[in-house]
Amino acid sequence: MKITANAKINLTLDITGIRPDGFHSLRSVMVPISLCDELTFEENEKFAFSCDIKALETNDNLCVRAAKLFFEKTKKPDGVSIHLQKNIPFPAGLGGGSADAAAVLKGLNSFYGMPICENALFELAEKLGSDVSLCLLGRGALCEGRGEVLTPIKSIGVMPVVIAIGEGRLSTPDVYRRYDAMNLPVRNDTDFFLSALAANDRERLLSSLGNAFEPVADELCPETKTLRKRLSELGAANARLSGSGPSVFGIFNDEQTARLAVDVLESEGFSAYFCKTVK
Ligand code: C5P
Repeated sequence: MKITANAKINLTLDITGIRPDGFHSLRSVMVPISLCDELTFEENEKFAFSCDIKALETNDNLCVRAAKLFFEKTKKPDGVSIHLQKNIPFPAGLGGGSADAAAVLKGLNSFYGMPICENALFELAEKLGSDVSLCLLGRGALCEGRGEVLTPIKSIGVMPVVIAIGEGRLSTPDVYRRYDAMNLPVRNDTDFFLSALAANDRERLLSSLGNAFEPVADELCPETKTLRKRLSELGAANARLSGSGPSVFGIFNDEQTARLAVDVLESEGFSAYFCKTVK
């Protein structure tokens, strides 16, 4: 059995405070994109996990942790092998690890004939990471709490997207720490976005995208700023950091311009991917 694990982008990301557990409370509109990893499930004597990228083939991998939680909860015999074909760049702010973990939960549940209900799957997802719930949901949502409190949103439709990433790397905890130290004003892109979505105003919707981490990423990894600028110059209606970076996405009005932007960015030495928002 094969399933895909879609990456996500954050169309907005407002940080609204720090919680007693040390995590940050946020309001973020996240949508899945067609860029995806692939997971293959096969019967096996005992549990095995493999990945085409050997450095990811560890017991710490979120896929293995997701599988462990699933078997603990269901008490099913763990006779399955899972192979992960990695296509989503990482670490990138695209939720690749979270998408894989969600796909393992969904895939195992289907492989074993649905032993647990959807609510229980979401409870397991929450334990694995802030973005796993959204990846399990598989559609656009307003994400609150530490990212796991989901309110599905009306579809934004299928839009061409270019993901761009350079050589620099950013660690999520470092980005949150630096964000706190910078004492930035709280943004409210999410409400502007939601009101534009309700009004079916595409132009206003695209101009309301934003990410509170951009000033942090600009400082810690300046090429994220360069990439946002290049995507806009190459025709993106808007270009923003995704999650805690370092990937940047551009939303385009037409596919041809987006594909051309990928070619140009690649010729400039960046990694770039054409994909689409998932309806
Ligand atoms: O949940 P996840 O594994 O994505 O979180 C990685 C790290 O990012 C956390 O350990 C925490 O430092 C930070 N984080 C946070 N607030 C959030 C999500 C993540 O402070 N809402």
